[in-house]
Amino acid sequence: MKAIFFEKYGIPEEVLQLKEAPLPTPKDNEVLIKLYATAINDYDWSLVRGKPYLYRLMFGLAKPKNPITGMELSGVVEGIGSKVSKLKVGDAVYGDISHFGFGTFAEYINIPEDAVLLKPDKLSFEIAAAIPHASTLAMQALRGIAEIKQGQKVLINGGGGGVGTIGLQLAKLNNCEVSGVDSGEKLDMMKSLGYDQVIDYKKVDFTKTGEQYDLILDCKTNKSPFSYLRALKPTGVYVTIGGNPGSLISVLFWGKIFSLFTSKKLKILSLKPNEGLDEIAKLVIQNKITPEIDGPYPLEDTPRLIQYFGEGKHKGKVVIKVSG
Ligand SMILES: NC(=O)c1ccc[n+]([C@@H]2O[C@H](COP(=O)([O-])OP(=O)(O)OC[C@H]3O[C@@H](n4cnc5c(N)ncnc54)[C@H](OP(=O)(O)O)[C@@H]3O)[C@@H](O)[C@H]2O)c1
Repeated sequence: MKAIFFEKYGIPEEVLQLKEAPLPTPKDNEVLIKLYATAINDYDWSLVRGKPYLYRLMFGLAKPKNPITGMELSGVVEGIGSKVSKLKVGDAVYGDISHFGFGTFAEYINIPEDAVLLKPDKLSFEIAAAIPHASTLAMQALRGIAEIKQGQKVLINGGGGGVGTIGLQLAKLNNCEVSGVDSGEKLDMMKSLGYDQVIDYKKVDFTKTGEQYDLILDCKTNKSPFSYLRALKPTGVYVTIGGNPGSLISVLFWGKIFSLFTSKKLKILSLKPNEGLDEIAKLVIQNKITPEIDGPYPLEDTPRLIQYFGEGKHKGKVVIKVSG
């Protein structure tokens, strides 16, 4: 099979290489999946470069423990281990496999059957690979943690990315007024997607405009918790899904302290992979939400695409068509 390998950390286009490898054999609890599509995530950009350095503690100090990255997939089961009970050969599946390891930038992968869900027939393989990670982050943050309500005033920081573009649509299903913050080049695309206001983060600090929100979804936490408090209405909720590690620790610490003397809330999402994914798929099939797709591109373009993603040039989800 063909796969995109890396044996040392570095610049994606320098360290990632397309190579041939033997077809893997599934263990007892595993299924062998032929990949049809995959997508690029923040994890890939960080894992390939080994930055932040904290990642190296988990994924290999001197060099990567797992030579193939990639965490979202859609495909078809082609082999099963002796103890597999829920899936069979021929089943179309999809999911975010990040709690079971990485390795989707390849033609085949072996993973425990619990890492994936059955793909609805009406969902294309490309869309199925684009929604598992970003959409469930958006869903779990907005509906699960912030308990979004009809007509709220919402702000999404990092609003033009994978999570933000789905978050907007989920908020619009609740008739919310939604502002999006991102880089200047993405603002036109964001307006066309339905944002009511757009803000260029390089020009305006949304925490200093005097506007206050019922709900802030932050994909790029990099400010002090006091700024976020200032931008919330008296009972507002701020939820972060990721960002600068120091700022995240600060939000966690100060969020607990603030909760003692204000009804504003600062919260951090810890993703539960694939929870809510079938509901997202239903919304996509009913045309209630439409994932913003950049691509699909061929597997051999992966090194260039991870660089492109890291430089923030993508719009929505970067999808790679592996076969099919
Ligand atoms: N909570 C969890 O359990 C969990 C699990 C996995 C991943 N995550 C996190 O989820 C996030 C992934 O979000 P995503 O898929 O939507 O990423 P994405 O597609 O890269 O989108 C992020 C957007 O934010 C913009 N941006 C960059 N710097 C910004 C700033 N200072 N202010 C406002 N916007 C800024 C980027 O644009 P430019 O780059 O063009 O400026 C980009 O459009 C990551 O932070 C990741 O760490 C969380």
